Amino acid sequence: MAPRAVCDAASLSFGEGLEVLISRKLDTLSPGEILEVSSDDPSIEHDLRAWSRFMAHEWRGMRVENSRFICSIQRGAAQRIIAKRLPLEAVTNIPAIANPQTGFSPRGATVEDGSPGFPFDVLDANLAWNPEAATLYERAVSAQWNAATDILWNALPAIGLELEQSVCQLMTFLAENEFAALYVPAKWIPRIHPHFVETIMFLSTQICDEARHIEVFVKRALANGGGLQFSSASTERSLKTLLDREDFLEASFLLSVLGEGTFLDLLRFIEAHAPDAVTAEIARRSRIDEARHVQFSIAHMKHAIESDPNFKQKLAAAARERAASLAEVRSVNPLVEESLIVLAAGGLQPDRLPAGVRAVRELYDTMHENRIKRLQQIGFSSEDSEHLSQSHTPNFM
Ligand SMILES: [Fe+2]
Ligand SMILES: [Fe+2]
Repeated sequence: MAPRAVCDAASLSFGEGLEVLISRKLDTLSPGEILEVSSDDPSIEHDLRAWSRFMAHEWRGMRVENSRFICSIQRGAAQRIIAKRLPLEAVTNIPAIANPQTGFSPRGATVEDGSPGFPFDVLDANLAWNPEAATLYERAVSAQWNAATDILWNALPAIGLELEQSVCQLMTFLAENEFAALYVPAKWIPRIHPHFVETIMFLSTQICDEARHIEVFVKRALANGGGLQFSSASTERSLKTLLDREDFLEASFLLSVLGEGTFLDLLRFIEAHAPDAVTAEIARRSRIDEARHVQFSIAHMKHAIESDPNFKQKLAAAARERAASLAEVRSVNPLVEESLIVLAAGGLQPDRLPAGVRAVRELYDTMHENRIKRLQQIGFSSEDSEHLSQSHTPNFM
């Protein structure tokens, strides 16, 4: 019988890697085919014969040619590890319902039976998959910035006590909201099946973004010596409802479409009225990151609602339930509102404060209008959007 494959083992022996070389060669053969191994080492006859028997291959003898030892092995029927590799498309095939028995194996890998079950409970592609995740992940990776070196901290001027205090109050408020924006996706990552890896990877960039936002807002609060200010119980109550929600789709909707969406307008306002270029730049850079988080979530919700229209009612119910649980929270932390007014007025001059008050009222209107637009974008009627936006937490997030 002619050999199907040949392999030159030089003077390699067992224990030096000969078994690896031969095993890999035999993997490429079908049961019954012959592998010919040539070696300079006469001890190969004894060792290879024993190894073949042990591995359920058939030893077919040895001959000597030109002082080399030529051994023949007929491949046995036993498969070493796997019978068949999955086709390459398995890498891109998104499962409709993922199997928790595949553990942390990457999508497309062949998984041995007997792995432990993992506690992932977001297994449904309708809930976990996002068609824009891969693109937004790429964008997020190339848009990372450094809160320590990309901000011109040395250029930060002194801006007077009232304005500085207002900026520091806003930075405190932003930072606490950023913690919610970090903890909520972080809570969901271990629950989403790894075969929805694009979603996981995007959420990981979101967590990095939020960490940087916490860093940059706290740095700004400290930079001129003002320090961190007041954190209200109402803000914390509002944020805790986001962390408490036990449904990935609902949590993303409340956090990112409604909360982070509203923050886009808040950050734009702070950028426009910032008393110094450093604060404006911080708000600008953070807003660009937030816009990505909002875009991700809108695509996520649209995909979910398109795959199952009932999700729309579920999201609306979650928003109503949250509003009911926050009924006692009637306004944002008053010190935050005051600080926004002072920023827009450029200080405490009595002739300028009315303009500050008007600007903040306009901000609330803009937030409401843009929330409605986003809700309509994901498929809510204008009436439902109006109601849902109206009942959104006055804490913005
Ligand atoms: Fe953020
Ligand atoms: Fe965010």
